[in-house]
Amino acid sequence: MNDQKATAIKEFTPTAPMTPPTARTAADSRTPKPIAAAEVPSPESVAAELVPDSARLSAMIDAIAEVSDPSPGVTRLAWTRTERRAHDLVAGWYRALGLKVWIDAVGNTIAELPGNRPAALGTGSHLDSVPAGGRFDGIAGVIAGVEVARLLVENGVRLEHSVRFVAFTAEEGARFGQACLGSKAVAGMLEESKLWSLRDADGISVAEAMQRVGLDPGRLAEARWAPRDWVAFLELHVEQGGVLEAAGLPIGIVDLVSGSTRVAVEVRGRATHTGSTPMALRADALTAAAEIVLMAEAIANDPRHRGTRASIGVLQVEPGSITTIPGRTTFTLDVRDVDSDRQRGTVTEIVRRAKEICDRRRVAMTVRPIGDSSPVVLPIWLRQTIADVCAEADLPYRVLTSGASHDCQMVNRVVPAALIFVPSQGGLSHVPEEWTSAADLAVGTRVLLHGLLRIDRRLMELERAAARTGEESDEQH
Ligand code: GLV
Ligand code: MN
Ligand code: MN
Repeated sequence: MNDQKATAIKEFTPTAPMTPPTARTAADSRTPKPIAAAEVPSPESVAAELVPDSARLSAMIDAIAEVSDPSPGVTRLAWTRTERRAHDLVAGWYRALGLKVWIDAVGNTIAELPGNRPAALGTGSHLDSVPAGGRFDGIAGVIAGVEVARLLVENGVRLEHSVRFVAFTAEEGARFGQACLGSKAVAGMLEESKLWSLRDADGISVAEAMQRVGLDPGRLAEARWAPRDWVAFLELHVEQGGVLEAAGLPIGIVDLVSGSTRVAVEVRGRATHTGSTPMALRADALTAAAEIVLMAEAIANDPRHRGTRASIGVLQVEPGSITTIPGRTTFTLDVRDVDSDRQRGTVTEIVRRAKEICDRRRVAMTVRPIGDSSPVVLPIWLRQTIADVCAEADLPYRVLTSGASHDCQMVNRVVPAALIFVPSQGGLSHVPEEWTSAADLAVGTRVLLHGLLRIDRRLMELERAAARTGEESDEQH
């Protein structure tokens, strides 16, 4: 354990200054004095009795998993009545704790524990799922927030900053193709036109889906967060990969979140009889698509694309008859990378080569963009704060990148954000088998709670230091 910890901490070599921004209430042109680490009170000494209850965390996971459309695992797609029921459930838990709760214009649920300062620390994740998905993706971060709120409320602990607990809507791109729509809305990264142009498999637009669950797409702008209202945001999430489990580590601290570029491809050939059409006279839309799929895989596997992931997750074949040559195929392409140039360059290369394949096979092709998010580097001072919390609690951790998209990636546009991972058994995610133990959830929740406490105190220390510097310079004049 100690060896692992030493390795993990050694890996976390700061490459940039680790100073959090001066608390916004003290923002001015003066440079705050650096605070010695010893002056920062230990969160453990403030609240050693704040221990997350793993049974309660499990019970919340189970209760939310019950809110699902009929399917293997969990199906709770964005802006469905089912997803809204999960939001109602979580809102009810926060209300029962006495927190003020509101639903923003796009359907994100926000609960607030007021502090002495209006600018808030935030935490949260999402409540929607992919079709036939797991019960932990997104939910882990939401229920960790509820448990943090319960511990603070029941123990009478108040932070200097307000704490806002957020359950985002529509993080999964599963229904509308584009991920993190709820968090993009708060970050001001979602244009109103997208609400009308993005459609699900039944042709329903985001705007129509919102209207069907009582939300007004015309109010999109109201969901936007103002940077002055926030100081930092922490998201807890399951890793969705196998790095932590393989290394036997309870915590991951994410430095870089992958971006994703998604397109929909349509290949049009000629549907006709499978028996009477010679091989040389076919324009088969499926064999062309198959060659494109393998070409995309080969490009991502090419050593110069180290780290690129290219996936075709949806493929439809028409007319879908055993005796008719496929006349039309439609499929999605999702390219993810931690390098933004390589991400976009890979898509361009796949599309160019796909066109060549289609020309050679005498089929037509059209490509429609669905979504595009850049990779994001998360701020090092927040990562270091989480690392400090882990070191103090003797919890080994590893710094790692995230291959999946996350709400904090968008939130980081408006407020500095951090991402804490807990292990996923077998590295499985987006499937019913997705699993994280209650004990691991409890450890992650503890790190989240103490991360919030620590940031609260560090920002107050900085604010006091800034005030002292101001007084000293006033005296000198
Ligand atoms: C979100 O789960 C993603 O697909 O990255
Ligand atoms: Mn997720
Ligand atoms: Mn997901």
